[in-house]
Amino acid sequence: MNANELRSKYIEFFKSKNHVEISGQSLIPENDPSVLFTTAGMHPLVPYLLGEKHPAGTRLTDYQKCIRTGDIDEVGDPSHLTCFEMLGNWSLGDYFKKESIGFSYEFLTSPKWLGLDPRKISVTVFAGDENAPRDEEAAAAWIANGMPEDKIAYLPASDNWWAAGPTGPCGPDTEIFYWVGENLPPKGSNKGTDPENWLEIWNNVFMQYNRIDEKNLELLPKKNVDTGMGLERTNCILQGKKSVYLTEVFQPIIKTIEKLSNYTYGTDEEKDRSVRIIADHARSSVFILGDQKGVSPARVGAGYVLRRLIRRAVRHGMKLGIDKDFMAEVAVTVVENFKIAYPELEQNKNKIFSELTSEEAKFRQTLKKGEAEFEKMLPNLMKNPKKIISGKVAYNLYETYGYPLELTQELGAENGFTVDVEGFKEAEKKHQEASKTAEVGAAKGGLAEQSDVTTKYHTATHLLQQALIDVLGEQVAQKGSNITNERMRFDFTFDRPMTKEEIQKVEDIVNEKIKEDLPVTMQVMPLDDAKKAGARALFTGKYGEDVKVYTIGRDAENDWFSKEVCGGPHVQHTAQIGQFKIQKEQSSSAGVRRIRAVISGGLPLDKH
Ligand code: SER
Repeated sequence: MNANELRSKYIEFFKSKNHVEISGQSLIPENDPSVLFTTAGMHPLVPYLLGEKHPAGTRLTDYQKCIRTGDIDEVGDPSHLTCFEMLGNWSLGDYFKKESIGFSYEFLTSPKWLGLDPRKISVTVFAGDENAPRDEEAAAAWIANGMPEDKIAYLPASDNWWAAGPTGPCGPDTEIFYWVGENLPPKGSNKGTDPENWLEIWNNVFMQYNRIDEKNLELLPKKNVDTGMGLERTNCILQGKKSVYLTEVFQPIIKTIEKLSNYTYGTDEEKDRSVRIIADHARSSVFILGDQKGVSPARVGAGYVLRRLIRRAVRHGMKLGIDKDFMAEVAVTVVENFKIAYPELEQNKNKIFSELTSEEAKFRQTLKKGEAEFEKMLPNLMKNPKKIISGKVAYNLYETYGYPLELTQELGAENGFTVDVEGFKEAEKKHQEASKTAEVGAAKGGLAEQSDVTTKYHTATHLLQQALIDVLGEQVAQKGSNITNERMRFDFTFDRPMTKEEIQKVEDIVNEKIKEDLPVTMQVMPLDDAKKAGARALFTGKYGEDVKVYTIGRDAENDWFSKEVCGGPHVQHTAQIGQFKIQKEQSSSAGVRRIRAVISGGLPLDKH
């Protein structure tokens, strides 16, 4: 079996259990200022886990591209990845623990599906604490399916409680592990007794709670199931390979890197690590650049994470002795390998290649200057007996030469130095507005509650997009948006700065539409019908897939101002938004402009 077959089999299995296949979503979360990327398959489903009705029903399945950069420093070992695919299935108030566990076990062990050896499977179940009791229901379901009692490990919340963030839907989970030790597991072996030899492949979360704050949980209106299986890992164990990098998911990428570097993977541990870092980071960069809401390298936010991935890959390419621009060549292989499952990569391939090449060229300049500067400082640094590079020195390399902290750390480590990271951060804080670091840190953060203010901003982005098209023409297309409680940002394609008059005109149109107090309505329809009805969609969905369409206007068929395919939520009528003001219009990246705007006043939202 290979990853493509595993992906299809998973979807096919859950369809046979009456699940509807839905499309995975963009890597850039809709409407959620607290995270930079989609970090789990369930992320786009948060509103539905909280109780909103999903257009496709109560049993769903999909595959979702995800980015997690929280443990980026561990990438390079044989198992960590910053970009991965999650296979998922959900019950929204439909079936619960017994059926969910039954489905998982059948898919894993039935010869018709994966046919894994049941002796090599063990599980963990929530042990209970002051928040919730020991999960007897899950344990009973496992036993009913034939799992021996001694292969169930009861573990605390740190292992068996899953939450997407500090607030939001959460609950106890049961995790499924595969034996990666020699031969067969000894009797009574489980994750509790022998943690090293059991690899997690699937996580079934029983989402019954909503965390409101640090202390308080409330019961959700419905009991949900959220499961996620790591595609790369499961594919790896199915093939009996020791590392995901040895599977066909990564081998073509590694072959390309071998050709570019004249190095053969598997002959030198340090160089292998560089190959893995390039392979992983190139894959992540291609997925981020090629996303339907594609981001470009930037100094803040998701664009900064992207820049960091590209730059780290380039540096490891240099370590392997690749002395020309190479990222675009690796990217060709990535696009080729994933375009069937992710057609947006093929659609956006020219952008992917050109952005990679230009970022790489920029970085080589930066590196040359930064490394030369470091060499100059080295004799002086050597005088420091503690071998610590102060935060100020590291920050100076960054601020003056654009030399990133993590590279100063790597360069330092090669010469036996550590870097005072705290000191770096202090120096950074002094020099920059605090928000920049906050946004980078947000990559690890959680899911914010959708506040009324962000809902108002969200509807304002729809008005803004239509107003921009009315004033500037059809070449305007949304490239991304970012909302906090304080402001909105909206990126769109346009090839020159807007004039003062144009900015004023756009602002006036938005305020006019707010004053008209137009109703905002939602309809569910197949994606193709939505497009025919004139809805704008960032979304590349499956044929016939039902989507939500938000219309702003008196009559959703004959008299409307804006129509977009979108997950919501939105205000009920536009007067709730208040006054709209554009604060800034500037360049975001080549051919992309960015507007920053604020709203004030406005009416409260109706409560349901
Ligand atoms: N949300 C859970 C996870 O990410 C299961 O999908 O592991």
